[in-house]
Amino acid sequence: MIKIDKSGCAPFASQEQIKQYLDKAIAGFDTLESGNGAGNDFIGWNRLPSSITKEVLGEYKEVVSRWQAMKVDLVVVIGIGGSDLGAKAAIHALSHSFLPGEGMQVVFAGNSLSEDYLAELKDLMEMHNTACVVISKSGTTTEPAVAFRLVKQYIERVYGAAEASKRIVAVTDKARGALKTLATAQGYTSFVIEDNIGGRYSVLTPVGLLAIALAGFDIDAMVRGAKDAEKVCSERDEKNPAIQYAALRNMLYDKGYKTEILVNYNPKLLYVSEWWKQLYGESEGKDGKGIFPASVSNTTDLHSMGQYIQEGERTLFETVLHAEKCSREVSIPTDPANLDNLNYLAGKRVEECNESAMTATIMAHIDGGVPQIKVNFEKIDEYNLGWMFYFFEKACGISGYVLGVNPFNQPGVEAYKKNMFALLGKPGFEELAAELKKRM
Ligand code: PA5
Repeated sequence: MIKIDKSGCAPFASQEQIKQYLDKAIAGFDTLESGNGAGNDFIGWNRLPSSITKEVLGEYKEVVSRWQAMKVDLVVVIGIGGSDLGAKAAIHALSHSFLPGEGMQVVFAGNSLSEDYLAELKDLMEMHNTACVVISKSGTTTEPAVAFRLVKQYIERVYGAAEASKRIVAVTDKARGALKTLATAQGYTSFVIEDNIGGRYSVLTPVGLLAIALAGFDIDAMVRGAKDAEKVCSERDEKNPAIQYAALRNMLYDKGYKTEILVNYNPKLLYVSEWWKQLYGESEGKDGKGIFPASVSNTTDLHSMGQYIQEGERTLFETVLHAEKCSREVSIPTDPANLDNLNYLAGKRVEECNESAMTATIMAHIDGGVPQIKVNFEKIDEYNLGWMFYFFEKACGISGYVLGVNPFNQPGVEAYKKNMFALLGKPGFEELAAELKKRM
């Protein structure tokens, strides 16, 4: 369950202003729920959790069992953007910070064009019994396609072509795209990304859930969390946390706070921030407007970005992800010599220090002119992450409509692609290549 604490906005807005934006967010909610808003052919995620059955999850678990039986110990998950960040966010949050997990080791590729990275991936595959999940809705995205070509060739060379078809699973569109054609031709197990679910809203489809299951985490609990979130966030009510969050961030944006920093106090949430940035950045940054989504991990970044946030340009607001409980306990020991003068903390839980750091920072940042929204949730586990994924998706759809954009398209990402294709000599881009070369 997520609860929004808006007290950190009170010094920056009157109750009437907050109410006004809650009304706007309810209108945004109505647009989303009516299915008549811009991009309405991409709102399949809105009722997705309640449609996920035991059988659907069973299909992902079958892949886990099959690869366990084959003693696979490394899974390379290939994808970029929405086909990458959701699973990465969950697996990073749920994994031990230092030790390998009980499931297969899951690594991510196809999310850059770094040559070093791909060479190092080959080093890793050579040390393991490798399988691959390749994810691309369009089936034509360059970065994952390049990585997949390399991984596929490696798997075919080492295990043979017939065995390769058992070690590669494709997650893609049901009918279109090069990956679909290849998967059908090679007989790969395939999972479908429905037409009405865009990449950045797809973490609760096989795009996210399969990799999370392969890493050994409880996808039943994650889907349970998402189903509960769907119920709460589908209520047409000012108490709906998705409506509240959409209202507050739009209100702050209209008041000149143009950058939102998602703050965490646990580095396990690092990739939740990366997922959130993609979700909000791609959904809202268009038509010359949109909140710029940024992130920090505290207390680490209090020694880095803290100075700017406290005293830099006053166009920032912060959204603090606050896990109310930790899963483990560590207390600070007493030291009779007390040379570090830390005995005043002896016996306290480390989390108490972390909580104090958070409260102290929130107060200091309010004093420094940075409005605060607090997103409270119980703890980092599968259930709460499922809740959080759905909550942020729902709030993003509502928020985009309040802002007045189509939150489900991403026309801007085509510009770099066209230029890159032209520079790389892709057939059909000759004219653009000539133009660009004149500018180089
Ligand atoms: O959210 C989105 O739609 C994008 O970030 C896509 O997920 C990303 O571009 C990858 O696309 P695809 O899955 O088609 O390879």
